[in-house]
Amino acid sequence: MAQIRLECVSKQFGTAQVVRDVDLDIADGEFMVLLGPSGCGKSTLLRLIAGLETPSAGRILLGGEDITRTSPRQRDVAMVFQSYALYPHLTVAKNIGFPLRARGRSKDEIGERIRAVASALGLQNHLDRRPAQLSGGQRQRVALARAMVRDPGAFLMDEPLSNLDAALRSATRTELIDLHRRLGSTFLYVTHDQVEAMTMATRIALLNNGRIEQVGTPTELYDTPRSTFVAAFLGAPPMNLFDATVIVRAGELHLVADGVDVPLGLPADSATGPQKVTAGIRPERLRLRGADARLRGVVTASENLGSEEIVHVTVGGTVIRVRALRPVPAQIGDAAALCVDPADIQLFDSTTGRRLVWHRLHEHEASSRDASLSVA
Ligand SMILES: Nc1ncnc2c1ncn2[C@@H]1O[C@H](COP(=O)(O)OP(=O)(O)O)[C@@H](O)[C@H]1O
Ligand SMILES: [Mg+2]
Repeated sequence: MAQIRLECVSKQFGTAQVVRDVDLDIADGEFMVLLGPSGCGKSTLLRLIAGLETPSAGRILLGGEDITRTSPRQRDVAMVFQSYALYPHLTVAKNIGFPLRARGRSKDEIGERIRAVASALGLQNHLDRRPAQLSGGQRQRVALARAMVRDPGAFLMDEPLSNLDAALRSATRTELIDLHRRLGSTFLYVTHDQVEAMTMATRIALLNNGRIEQVGTPTELYDTPRSTFVAAFLGAPPMNLFDATVIVRAGELHLVADGVDVPLGLPADSATGPQKVTAGIRPERLRLRGADARLRGVVTASENLGSEEIVHVTVGGTVIRVRALRPVPAQIGDAAALCVDPADIQLFDSTTGRRLVWHRLHEHEASSRDASLSVA
């Protein structure tokens, strides 16, 4: 079993707090992606699990066993580095077999494992070459093969695709998904690339400044982000976020801002006061045409993506991006009236950035309900 558990793990380098109180459970056989901007502590977290760094506080468990102080070699994990870290003077075969030789396995066993792993990754015809004679994609496979050769319970991968060109990256993503399915091992994969995370992960842990912001399936993070940070990190372009106020009008809640007036379709107690919020709408949830215009502005720019267009509409002082199929019935300088389904509007606390949900405070006999905003 190779489930990985982090309990309140922190790491400090001098006075710099790089990983902060991280709790994370990675199930056996899961493909977990650690996602986050550059410098948020992803590599450090991976190196802590590999044993290449020691936590300042907290515990790390592998298969239920405390490995916080276990040497890297004694851990049933294998690491694949961004730089591949191949030995340039050794052949592909010797590079792949290195972890087994280091553990004193027999020549026969080593030869057999090298052949098996090399053929699984399509490297069988390159075994006598040296890394310099391989393409970037082939080097990346050798690094993977070297990790696979010991048949570890868990693979730790640090941005393994970042040195590949776009076409090869996309092909290799598919191969990694397939490899994960065939091996059934636990994958913990670090990247700053949301596309890699969305396409490969069974679950994503999104890191922000050393802390976990949200853990969930790609769909959960995309559809119900717990904070404006998550909302703004996922999606290209990301979720539109703007300051607005929730007010009560004729017993119903409305979202209003300069150029914005949307009935939220929710009943309100008259005691509910105006509340400042950050509103969020995904660009693909806005329509340039429709019966009920809710956001009014002017088209100020547009980006042609070939199949689609990203239309920039300035509403109040804010640029709202709309993803629309081409051809788009709007030109720069045109007035734009945008439609949105109230269910596609997300609300966040304007101070903390935390997601707000509609919470029923009281159930009355007559089934009228008091609604109130509360932090998720
Ligand atoms: N050995 C180290 N000594 C001091 N600071 C470090 C060390 N390793 C990483 N850091 C710092 O910790 C922060 C997080 O680094 P890292 O884990 O590499 O981030 P990421 O992989 O998310 O880009 C960075 O500010 C980095 O400079
Ligand atoms: Mg890194």
